[in-house]
Amino acid sequence: MDKSQQLIQAAIDARKQARVPYSQFAVGAALLTKSGQIFKGCNIENISLRLTLCAEEVAVGAAVAAGESDFTTVAVVADSQHPVLPCGGCRQLLAEFNPAMEVISSTLNGRVEHYSLKELLPRHNQGILEKPDGR
Ligand code: THU
Repeated sequence: MDKSQQLIQAAIDARKQARVPYSQFAVGAALLTKSGQIFKGCNIENISLRLTLCAEEVAVGAAVAAGESDFTTVAVVADSQHPVLPCGGCRQLLAEFNPAMEVISSTLNGRVEHYSLKELLPRHNQGILEKPDGR
């Protein structure tokens, strides 16, 4: 199994832990670090709906809490017709760590797509927190 298949498999495994009483749409994510470690996450829904945690967010939390944040690749898996791509908020979260991260998305039945986060979220930080005088 190569590293991207391993990462997809980790996302498939993580997906089994998803808590999705409202959407029944289970998602798994797995992050690969430069040092070769894998961190997993699943979506965790909340009755407010808007406070739901995406699988990617949970994977980032697991990694950062373990002291790892040098991410090269994220894999996302759902049982969808088309490979699911991270939502806008998760794109911004992932870009915080590596705006050129590789994004792999796979459906459960093996339809796989590869992207760079650069194309999914161009100009991720332009102007934010800048002062008008550039300081
Ligand atoms: N979801 C994720 O966990 N990651 C994605 O990349 C797309 C969407 C979750 C959030 C919610 O629980 C359900 O999928 C439907 O949006």
